[in-house]
Amino acid sequence: MDTNAPIPEDYNPLVKEEFDTAHKEYARLRGQCPVAHSDAYGGFWALTKYEDVQKVFSAPETFITSVQNVVPKVAFSGRRPPLHFDPPEHTPYRAALNPLLSDEKISRLAPAIRQCIRNELLPLLARGEGDVCGEFASLFQVKVFSLWMNLPPDLEAQLAEAGPAFVKAVESAQSDLMKSTSLVLYDMARALVALRKATPMDPENDPVSAFLATRTNGEPLPEEMVVGAIRQVLVVGIVAPMILMGNMVIHLARDKALQKTLRDQPERIPAALEEFLRLYTPYRGFARTAKHDVEIGGRSIKKDEAIALIMASANRDEDVFPDPDTFIFDRPNIKEHLAFGRGPHYCAGTNLARQELQIALDELLKNTRDFEIAGEILMSPFPELGPWYVPVKFALPVGYGDSSA
Ligand code: HEM
Repeated sequence: MDTNAPIPEDYNPLVKEEFDTAHKEYARLRGQCPVAHSDAYGGFWALTKYEDVQKVFSAPETFITSVQNVVPKVAFSGRRPPLHFDPPEHTPYRAALNPLLSDEKISRLAPAIRQCIRNELLPLLARGEGDVCGEFASLFQVKVFSLWMNLPPDLEAQLAEAGPAFVKAVESAQSDLMKSTSLVLYDMARALVALRKATPMDPENDPVSAFLATRTNGEPLPEEMVVGAIRQVLVVGIVAPMILMGNMVIHLARDKALQKTLRDQPERIPAALEEFLRLYTPYRGFARTAKHDVEIGGRSIKKDEAIALIMASANRDEDVFPDPDTFIFDRPNIKEHLAFGRGPHYCAGTNLARQELQIALDELLKNTRDFEIAGEILMSPFPELGPWYVPVKFALPVGYGDSSA
């Protein structure tokens, strides 16, 4: 057999997607071709079964992120820990970050997070309709992030502009704009490092000061890598919450019974959020490359070929989650979903993401009587999966405004 012959294409992610179409395609691949090859984005493998995805996540000694951590590969970026580093180089960055994102630290921020969310939501509701991604989630995710990062007002204002601009550039796949907005975020990271070096904050309560205070073998982390880590965190924290919010609103606009249940019983929102994370996993393009040739699902994958871990498909794998396309409260194995990944790169921001999304859902339901989709939804390309534009019309509770604000 000619091992240099081109690999036939099993899957084309470049076809125009609508809200449900990608999931139908992944169901087809899980059934017919679970380890699929695509020619798109320079060629990559797509793992669609839960078992394969979680095995690769859990074997960082073979499947590394330092060559390519996402499909499509972002050609112009520098190295940014922790995502671009493999253990053990990766470890000190996570050790610095994890305590600042603990359940206890994030719970303390809950009242301020709620205020950020209300500040963006109430004007949108007053308008009666608008885009829940661009005019709500994209704004609050940046404000919440700024709060956690202790950004001074000038940098917060800059992030409020540069953050959504970057998100929009990514979602609309405009590479020049992606590059220029990414550089603005890099400049912000540098300014923040200079600020904390001049006026340090308590490393137990400030992410930048925690990176600057970290020592490995008695040495500080290289300053350019601290800048890279901050730039990395700036972006991972401000894309997925918006996409998941858009997905949840679409689901709830279609499923009025669930909308009512969650409005009447807000204590069930955390359980609903976990099922939404499973059903509408916002990422499908995080990737690894193998350090040597491997075989997965009977397919030969060469060293250095990109392998996308399609978490959005793994989380609808019928062998793990029965009746996978249906929203089911309290699935016995819901904790096994892979929306936040697995292994050493497991999402550092799970507590922050859960806290802000639970509060956003609670505030949205509490301050409305109903909502409907009011126009065409626009879907994100790789590496995300989900909408980045969701026009919605809101019905407000009777007497709203007398009591709610
Ligand atoms: C719904 C929201 C979110 C989802 C679904 C999500 C998902 C993920 C996933 C799947 C990874 C692993 C990538 C890989 O293994 O290649 C990851 C990594 C990461 N996430 Fe999140 N994320 C979310 C929100 C956040 C937020 C709000 C933050 C804010 C701090 C954050 C910080 C990070 C960081 C720092 C990493 C890199 C971890 C490492 O490389 O060790 N994430 N996230």
